[in-house]
Amino acid sequence: MTGAGPLRDSFGRVHTDLRISVTDRCNLRCTYCMPLEVTFKPREELLSFEEIARVARVAVRLGIRTIRLTGGEPLVRRDVPELVKQLVAIHGIDEVALTTNGLLLADQAVALRQAGLARLNVSLDSLHEDVFETLARRRGLDQVLAGLAAAKRAGFEPGQGAAAIRINAVSMRGLTESEIVPLAEFCRREQFQLRFIEFMPLDAEGGWSKTQVLSGREVRELLERGVGPLVPLAAGDPGQPAIDYEWADGGGRVGFIDPVTQPFCDRCDRLRLTADGQFRNCLFSTTEWDVRAVVRGGGGDAGIAALLRACVAAKKAAHGIDTPAFERPARAMYQIGG
Ligand code: 5AD
Ligand code: SF4
Repeated sequence: MTGAGPLRDSFGRVHTDLRISVTDRCNLRCTYCMPLEVTFKPREELLSFEEIARVARVAVRLGIRTIRLTGGEPLVRRDVPELVKQLVAIHGIDEVALTTNGLLLADQAVALRQAGLARLNVSLDSLHEDVFETLARRRGLDQVLAGLAAAKRAGFEPGQGAAAIRINAVSMRGLTESEIVPLAEFCRREQFQLRFIEFMPLDAEGGWSKTQVLSGREVRELLERGVGPLVPLAAGDPGQPAIDYEWADGGGRVGFIDPVTQPFCDRCDRLRLTADGQFRNCLFSTTEWDVRAVVRGGGGDAGIAALLRACVAAKKAAHGIDTPAFERPARAMYQIGG
């Protein structure tokens, strides 16, 4: 194995979290993530489950402790629970989680739970089918709600703290203001932890502009006006990008992920592996490290480890969205993985 010690970058940040995208395909077309007309990667370019598990094993030896599976939509790939089983079995792993749009969750929740999946993040921006459709450019709200109910029944317990089910909602000015209070009331009732995420320049059609960012602070003001007072919680896990609040009346928690207005790059502990086998050190990376070439070229685990270390060593201090030098990455969200 090349080198020793944790995956520390040149700014001293230690990396313990790996986001693995299993597919660029998706059954929705969210405006902030995907183009309407899209050409997906040929299947042979995607890493197989065995290849993913091998890369993950090396990453865990270098200090990765948590893995989150993402997409596109991860559940459109066949047999994801099988991959979860392989990852959960890696010695040294603390937790395997999954981010999903929930459309296929009703069918798969039980198998995912049985495979050892610890947590689910379900993306849901609206509880009104018309707004859902404006954002996702397809219908599907009822299926997502059925998926959430199935996840509860399967034993992903709602609740606070290290909640097993969390709802992530992207905020966009002029589109989601009306959705914020209903989402909060739904999550209070169902005891789901809710997190609002600021719209980032990762849409495929180049439509992002600062004016469309509805900030976490503005969302919080809408919540306080429409629902009730929120009390800030003491910062918890330093690797967690969210700023968490608690309803003063005991109604649970709401978090804010504000990558645009409150960048958390200085606390970032994340690395990414794309579905086609490229390591990235940031959502906004403009460089990738081709681990598929190493794996398929017969490179040993030492080659994988060296590549991951090189990726970490090159990590920049911050994404710099607000600086003139900011360069949009060539890939959109669905090709990277949330
Ligand atoms: N800005 C913010 N969040 C985004 N997501 C996808 N694209 C963007 C974007 N441009 C979110 C999804 C999901 C997670 C995978 O990333 O809503 O919650
Ligand atoms: Fe699909 Fe998620 Fe992208 Fe929406 S945000 S298009 S659900 S991958």
